[in-house]
Amino acid sequence: MDRRRFIRVAGGGVILAAGAAAAGCSSAMPAEAIAPWQGPGPQSDLRRWILGYAILAPHSHNLQSWLVDLSVPDRILLRCDLQRLLPETDPYSRQIMMSQGTFIELLDIAARERGQRTEITLFPEGAFAVDKLDGRPVASIRLVADASVPKDPLFAQILERHTNRGTYELARPVQASAWQAMAEAVKPNPLRFGFVGPDQPDQLAQQRAVAAEAWRIEMLTPRTILESYKVLRIGPDEVARHRDGLTLLDPTVVWMSRLGLFDRSQAPGPDDYATTSQIKDFNSKLASTPGFLWMVTEANDRSTQVNAGRAYVRVQLAATAQGVVMQPLQQALQEYPEQAVPHAQIRRLLGAEAPGQTVQMWARVGFAPPAGPAPRRGVDAHIVRT
Ligand SMILES: Cc1cc2nc3c(=O)[nH]c(=O)nc-3n(C[C@H](O)[C@H](O)[C@H](O)COP(=O)(O)O)c2cc1C
Repeated sequence: MDRRRFIRVAGGGVILAAGAAAAGCSSAMPAEAIAPWQGPGPQSDLRRWILGYAILAPHSHNLQSWLVDLSVPDRILLRCDLQRLLPETDPYSRQIMMSQGTFIELLDIAARERGQRTEITLFPEGAFAVDKLDGRPVASIRLVADASVPKDPLFAQILERHTNRGTYELARPVQASAWQAMAEAVKPNPLRFGFVGPDQPDQLAQQRAVAAEAWRIEMLTPRTILESYKVLRIGPDEVARHRDGLTLLDPTVVWMSRLGLFDRSQAPGPDDYATTSQIKDFNSKLASTPGFLWMVTEANDRSTQVNAGRAYVRVQLAATAQGVVMQPLQQALQEYPEQAVPHAQIRRLLGAEAPGQTVQMWARVGFAPPAGPAPRRGVDAHIVRT
């Protein structure tokens, strides 16, 4: 972030002299917020060990909307936390369902590691309506000891996987063997996995343009940017308190927030630096991106959404094993009306225009300096007492 301009536009230069670092404002991620990334350690209840991996799953906006009931031995009943949804950007909760799937997949991989077969019943009391979630369970999972269950090599990547929002190495395209490993990882799930690299420059350029426009729309739509602001955790104190959401640790922004110069109750205007700088920054990230991947399903029912999430995290784990990083780009896939044009464009570009066909995931992919772990609330925060 260009601090000088940011401060000038938003605050009139007052805190330039203060110098955030000099004023003792730490930008370090609080250790307690990322402690779950050390793994669960020994547990008397095997389910807690397994859940210690499942909670490291990727989740849209890092909302971690997973509630588990452990009241029946050997079973895990998963419900969605209806307080942790994104109604503006994800009006039908498609991404929330995918984020239940990522959790289920890591749970399954961790269970295998301990010689447990999972018997997973999705929506044991019936699936949610297409437009609304309710309190019924997402999955009932029974653990059955079974020495013949194969371990999954992707287990080794669970603690290493992180969403990477950095600048990628444009001159270093993803190699064919890495794409192959990602495609292989999807296999248990019936969906179409596709990718593009620098050998198709027109396709790459078109995808960058759609992603840029969709991002611009999200920034300029007050209710969608405000939804992100609601889960924005600025500075180590907020991050440690919430251990979820979107983390912002830049010391200058932390100071601005403390001084009341970053008002999260107001959407910034189209010409405000907070808007223009984010658009510029995102465009430069897209320009650095040597490849994109996508995952298309033929239907869009609730089980398909959950299974798409399962497939996505497998792809990301397989990529992690190859040193390849990624960042989902959901903006153009989102169903709110302002995104209608990019939404139609990306469906056309990815050959997903037939009724029902749904682009569940689209992500930028490449090589980049490692990203750190995102906060997690820990297993206890997810267990419901009955
Ligand atoms: C369904 C889904 C949609 C996501 N969409 C985006 C996105 O549009 N942009 C983005 O930067 N990250 C996106 N993410 C990544 C999450 O923000 C990320 O998983 C979360 O912040 C936790 O970080 P971690 O993946 O590094 O553990 C998405 C993840 C999932 C599962």
